[in-house]
Amino acid sequence: MRKTIYYFEKPGKINTEETLKLAIARAEELGIRYMVVASSSGETALKAVEIAENRLRELNIVCVTYHTGFYKEGENSMNSDVKEFLRNKGVKIVRQSHALSGVERSISRKFGGVSRVEVIAEALRSLFGHGLKVCVEITIMAADSGAIPIEEVVAVGGTGKGADTAVVIRPAHMNNFFDMEIREIICMPRVKRPNPF
Ligand SMILES: Cc1cc2nc3c(=O)[nH]c(=O)nc-3n(C[C@H](O)[C@H](O)[C@H](O)COP(=O)(O)O)c2cc1C
Repeated sequence: MRKTIYYFEKPGKINTEETLKLAIARAEELGIRYMVVASSSGETALKAVEIAENRLRELNIVCVTYHTGFYKEGENSMNSDVKEFLRNKGVKIVRQSHALSGVERSISRKFGGVSRVEVIAEALRSLFGHGLKVCVEITIMAADSGAIPIEEVVAVGGTGKGADTAVVIRPAHMNNFFDMEIREIICMPRVKRPNPF
């Protein structure tokens, strides 16, 4: 199989629209039924709904957002109006503990050192970029919350805000992490760091 990968010059939000267009187009080509999108505020998910507007019957959008308390105890990163709008468009919203940090992050912060799961996260981030690490993490979270079946899906992640990476991925649950497969890279930033050395 010969396939094109789209490389962005730099990571970041500027690539959001193109990433979503490429992801939606590839999902259509492969007959993929679910697209998992990372969106903290809901902005990227709203953009995905706008771009996929006439395909929302065939393509289920699952928005994975930060867990409650990510920024501030008890608070959500997405406001309730945005959540309501997305739900009315048929978007499932997943908000749960982050699969690639979890309680381990608290232990590392308090006692130092680093856990095995944080090493996996950092290896993915450093070698393939933040967006790809996010694709892996949100796919586990969507699978664990029952929002997607275990079948090929498209996942979309970004660097801080927006989207810059999309993959075709075979999901797995967090207790079967190594059953996961990244089957295709649709697009990613060629340079992974905002300020490369
Ligand atoms: C569970 C989760 C984990 C994330 N982890 C990272 C990360 O490790 N590095 C990063 O740059 N962005 C991370 N993000 C941010 C996303 O990749 C994405 O850019 C952001 O959620 C888009 O939000 P917006 O729609 O408000 O712009 C994470 C987002 C979520 C929901």
